[in-house]
Amino acid sequence: MTYIQVTGGKKLHGDIEVQGSKNAVLPILAASVLHNGVTTIHHCPEISDVQCMIRILDSIGCKVKKEGSTVIVDATQLNNYRIPDEFVARMRSSIILLGPLLGRQHFVTISYPGGCTIGARPIDLHVKGLKRLNAEIIEANDLLTCMTTKLLGTEINLDFPSVGATENILLAAVLAEGTTIITNAAKEPEIDELCAFLTCMGAKIDGSGTGTIIVQGATSLHDCEYTVKADRIVTGTYMAAVAATGGKIILRGAVKEHIEEVIEVVNRMGCVTQASSEGITVIQKSRPNAYDLLRTRSYPGFPTDLQSPVMAALTIARGNSILIENIFEARYKVVKELVKMGANIEIDGKIAIIRGVSSLHGASVKAYELRGGAALVIAGMIAKETTDIHSIEYILRGYEDICRDLRMLGATVNYIEE
Ligand code: EPU
Repeated sequence: MTYIQVTGGKKLHGDIEVQGSKNAVLPILAASVLHNGVTTIHHCPEISDVQCMIRILDSIGCKVKKEGSTVIVDATQLNNYRIPDEFVARMRSSIILLGPLLGRQHFVTISYPGGCTIGARPIDLHVKGLKRLNAEIIEANDLLTCMTTKLLGTEINLDFPSVGATENILLAAVLAEGTTIITNAAKEPEIDELCAFLTCMGAKIDGSGTGTIIVQGATSLHDCEYTVKADRIVTGTYMAAVAATGGKIILRGAVKEHIEEVIEVVNRMGCVTQASSEGITVIQKSRPNAYDLLRTRSYPGFPTDLQSPVMAALTIARGNSILIENIFEARYKVVKELVKMGANIEIDGKIAIIRGVSSLHGASVKAYELRGGAALVIAGMIAKETTDIHSIEYILRGYEDICRDLRMLGATVNYIEE
């Protein structure tokens, strides 16, 4: 098995291009099946979740070509109503195909995605929303069977602004008859990107990026070409890294408007950030300041996906910090590993109290999930000795090449074949 080895103690310096957004490209690839034609998607990140989505599209009859970071999907010949179980088990966000496949072929079955390493992750809001659009959904024997004679637009108020449920309902609404109004919709930039992509395909959508999204059902769409924006979580991960190690980095392509809250947080941790049309520059001259109380929230609040990377930086802050994780109940698995490296962190339910120590030390640690894995790489860059990070398959789900990126910024980070 391959693991990541980090020898820390260096400041980060240099500039890198930020990869395309994982959480934008996955629903965009799913959306490609809505169109009886060809869609071209540029700046797709080379990550295992994208490979998994491409294999699903392939398994249901799409012809998918990959040319560098461009993915071309020809969905004219869809021929399968069942999403293969192996992919659902590997990537629970394959559930996002329910909406578009119901719209396009009125029938789809998928095995029930279970919980995952970050929490129980129910899909009740997806199911409720699709039922409101006139889908019949039978949940039996761990299988969801979804069918409709015709999807019908309606008003849907989400109990919680779930990203995935908003996307699924939106995707179903595109080919529904009449108008769909989604209230209490998620406002994450990935929803805005999905709306931009769907609009480029010919869908009629208003209110993107707000809590109320209005979709006028279309009867057909057209070929389109779209470029995915920079990944805001990868951007934030590298911002947290430099907040921890010190130095000056330029994140090319990073979109300031997507990470205002994160900029605010790293600035309070002592960084100076400058945004321009080219990207974001982050400078950190000292050990990070502690953060008195940081809570994760839905966008535009501080993202749950950056809670662990920022926690890693706060382990060596001057003073004590408090984090509150409000979105995923099992996102503190990384704490045990950070403690092995000398961090002083106490967990009480949703609350983490981080007492800043002067440095971390190297250790052999294990990733339990994607963002926690990235946090361990940051911790490894803080420790002066060598840290080995195992189970890196989680990290590869979302970071194209974290070792390449950090080496370009001067860190000593390598994949080691066991
Ligand atoms: N929820 C429900 N019922 C539902 C759906 C969600 O109770 O039907 C709850 C969840 O259990 C959770 C909260 O609502 O407590 C938020 O879940 P949401 O649906 O918003 O998240 P998601 O769509 O499953 C996406 C990202 C996550 C990111 C969250 C929050 C993708 C593929 N995944 O998940 O990304 O953390 O939004 O922003 O877009 C990651 O990239 O590491 C990652 C986990």
